[in-house]
Amino acid sequence: MTASPFPIQDYALLDDVECEQRIIAAKRKLGKQCIVLGHHYQRDEVFKHADITGDSLKLSREAAESEAKYIVFCGVHFMAEVADILSRPEQIAILPDMAAGCSMADMANQVNVQKCWDALATVIDVENSVTPVTYINSAADLKAFCGRHEGIVCTSSNAEKILNWSFAQKEKVLFFPDQHLGRNTGYRMGIPLEQMVTWDFSQPMGGLTEQQIRDAKIILWKGYCSVHQAFKPEHIDAFLEKYPETKVIAHPEACFEVCQKADYIGSTETILKIIREAEPNTRWLVATELNLVNRLHEECQAEGKQVHFMAPTLSMCSTMFRTDTQHLAWVLENLVEGHVVNQISVPDEIAVPARKSLENMLRAS
Ligand code: 13P
Ligand code: SF4
Repeated sequence: MTASPFPIQDYALLDDVECEQRIIAAKRKLGKQCIVLGHHYQRDEVFKHADITGDSLKLSREAAESEAKYIVFCGVHFMAEVADILSRPEQIAILPDMAAGCSMADMANQVNVQKCWDALATVIDVENSVTPVTYINSAADLKAFCGRHEGIVCTSSNAEKILNWSFAQKEKVLFFPDQHLGRNTGYRMGIPLEQMVTWDFSQPMGGLTEQQIRDAKIILWKGYCSVHQAFKPEHIDAFLEKYPETKVIAHPEACFEVCQKADYIGSTETILKIIREAEPNTRWLVATELNLVNRLHEECQAEGKQVHFMAPTLSMCSTMFRTDTQHLAWVLENLVEGHVVNQISVPDEIAVPARKSLENMLRAS
C-alpha cells in the first residue's frame, strides 16, 4: 500500500529552478511509461519539458498512437479529454492543472447546442440535411453529440478537408463553437458570406429568419476566442505602413477581416513551419498567442528574421498559462510514487460516440 499523494500545496512555493530539476529527475525515473505532450501556447518553462509539441491535430494523433501508460497533457482540458478518448483503456490522461480550460469551448454546451438542433428541426429536416461539425476546442459531450448525429470533429489544420467531407454527406453544416474558423474556412472554399449565417444562442431561433436558415450552407455558432479577437485589421495597416515588406500570417481563429488581409492562414504548427522555412532576413506579423510568437522570434533571430506579435497589447491565453512547473513537478513526482493525480476520464456513454466523431476526423484528414 503506498502513502497518500503529495499535496499541491507542497509545490506552490517551489521556484522554477527547483521544479525544473525535479521534473527532469521524475521524467528520468518514469522513462517510457510517461509521455509529456505540450501545446505551442505553453510557457517556455513548461514547453521545454514536452517530449512532443504540436497543434491540436498533431497532439491528438500522438495521443492515439502513444504506447506510454501516462499521457501528461500540458495544454487545456479538451485536449486531455481527446487524449483519454483516443488512447487505450489502460492508458491514463493527466491535466496538470484542472483549471486549464478554454473560454471558447465553454461558449457552446450540450444544452444550447441541442436547443439549436431542435429549433432548426422546426424549419428544416436536420437529420437528413445538416452535418454537425465541432471544432476540437469543445467539451467531450459535444463531440459525442456529433458522433450521434453522423457528424465530425475538426481542428484548425484540417477544417477545409472536414467541411468537404461534411458537404459530401449532407447539404448543410452546423459549425460550433468558433464562428471565425468556420467562416474563414467556408469563404476560402468559395461559400459566399450570405450563405454563412451566425446562430446567436441568446436569441430565439438564433436570431435568424426561416428563410435565412433554409438558404444557409453553414450555420456558424456565435463563439470566438478572446485571445484571437484582440487582433484587428487596423493593426496590420499600421504595421505595413511602417514596414511594407512584412508578411502577415494569422491563425484562423482571428476574425474574417484580419484573415482577409493575411498572406497566410494556418494552425499553430503551420505558422511555425511557414516562418521557419521562410527566407532569412524576412519580417513577419503574426496573429496568434504570445508565447508561441515570442519563442519563434527568439528562434529565428539568428537568421535575421523578425517575428512580431500583431496586437499592441499583450494577449496571452490565460488558461494555457495555468500550467506551470509547480503543477508539472507535482503530477510527475506523484506518478513516480504510483499516485495518479488530475486524471481526465471521460465516461463511456460520452467517450464512445465522441470517439466516433474523432475517428471520422482522423480518417478524413
Ligand atoms: P491549434 O490546433 O492551431 O494549435 O490551435 C489550438 C488553439 O486553441 C488555438 O487557439
Ligand atoms: Fe481556447 Fe483561445 Fe486559449 Fe486557444 S487561445 S485554448 S481557443 S482560449
